[in-house]
Amino acid sequence: MAVDTNIVGYVNLCPSVPDAGYGDDVSKYVALEGVDGSGKSTVGEALADRLRALGHDALTVREPGGTPLGEQIRELVLHSPTLDPWAEVFLFAAQRAELAREVVQPSLAQGTWVISDRSYYSSIAYQGRARGLGEETVRSINESGLAGVLPDFVFVLDVDPGVALERQEGPDRIGREGLDFQAAVRAAYLDLAEREEKVVVLSGSLSIGEMVDRMLQVIL
Ligand code: ADP
Ligand code: TYD
Repeated sequence: MAVDTNIVGYVNLCPSVPDAGYGDDVSKYVALEGVDGSGKSTVGEALADRLRALGHDALTVREPGGTPLGEQIRELVLHSPTLDPWAEVFLFAAQRAELAREVVQPSLAQGTWVISDRSYYSSIAYQGRARGLGEETVRSINESGLAGVLPDFVFVLDVDPGVALERQEGPDRIGREGLDFQAAVRAAYLDLAEREEKVVVLSGSLSIGEMVDRMLQVIL
């Protein structure tokens, strides 16, 4: 496919098309993943600050959420007393499609880095694997709604689920699923990292600054 890289704001959202002409200046979509309480929001803000200090525009977003509709879905999915697992997977996918179209894609198109606290890799790990709905089914439900707006890099903050749970103040409906569930989520992330080059595991024993240093080495 021929790509006109002279278009202002051209962003390579398709991994098979090289970033000809823009080199390291192209903004990227970076997702932070891990079990509940692994440090994603803290590390995400620190990464965005460091990118800004280096002269880049950077935006932090969270899932579920990040748009008015997404925040309403967040309330439903995290605080409904009960929720069918398939309703859960589709609600996560719905808020994600909205976030991709309304925020992530337009930000990348204007050269802003997007640092996301979670992405569709959460759905693959939590709903696909830990809930047992099937990794490929969940991947395909999500990719159908994302129009190619997929993370360029995925960092898994690998913290022991017991330690991570202790760090949490008031766990939500999914955070209360217990240690076996969180252990299944962790195993799913480690397995994804074995198979996908863009999924990078960072040891939870690193300090926040060390994690950011390591991420910058990979993404810049
Ligand atoms: P998450 O977004 O994954 O739920 P948070 O960023 O809210 O996690 O972090 C949970 C708690 O762990 C916070 O109190 C935070 O200060 C602490 N924390 C985050 N990263 C680290 C780290 N690398 N080492 C030690 N504590 C951390
Ligand atoms: P989050 O607010 O990131 O929680 P925490 O700070 O505890 O990590 O995510 C909310 C919960 O929703 C968390 O338990 C993980 C879960 N979740 C899924 O199960 N699937 C998903 O696709 C996403 C985005 C989150």
